[in-house]
Amino acid sequence: MTREDAIKIMDDLGNSPNMKKHGLAAGYVMSALFDYLQKKGKKPELSNEIWGIAGLLHDADYEKTNKSEELHTEETTKMLHHIGAEKEIIDAVRGHADKELRRTLMSKSIYACDELTGLIVAAALVQPDKKLKSLSTESVMRKFKDKSFAAGANRDQIKTCESELKIPLEEFISISLQAMQLYSNELGL
Ligand SMILES: [Fe+2]
Repeated sequence: MTREDAIKIMDDLGNSPNMKKHGLAAGYVMSALFDYLQKKGKKPELSNEIWGIAGLLHDADYEKTNKSEELHTEETTKMLHHIGAEKEIIDAVRGHADKELRRTLMSKSIYACDELTGLIVAAALVQPDKKLKSLSTESVMRKFKDKSFAAGANRDQIKTCESELKIPLEEFISISLQAMQLYSNELGL
């Protein structure tokens, strides 16, 4: 499938501007993780573009299903099947919501970076200028360790970057932050 197909699905499911930005952020981070893992000699599945698409779509039906844990990812799955999307994308989207085992690097990566993108956005919003460029890996690490900050961002889930992807947390934050900073205009931050 193509990025255009993914954007159409986001629109057809009626995503709000904020949900679109969340998807975009996850997609940019996913593409950066693909490149990183490849450089490390791992074998990330499919392509950089497909990883971006999987990130973009992971929460595509979150609002449509009224944030129901039971229904989340089911609408997206139907649409992905309908257009004959790659099985890896479907499994990764479902995997982040525990609807499928996380077997692939793509699936494990979405699971780990999803909550981190939220933490990074929250950290940017408390900067005086509310900009991603004002953040550093160190400042995000401090927010990560401060359990009372953005308490909804699941730290254990983010830390699966170490157990599942073998990427040290600090490096994982650095890759993700840089990817989001590169697209700060698109993210409105
Ligand atoms: Fe998400």
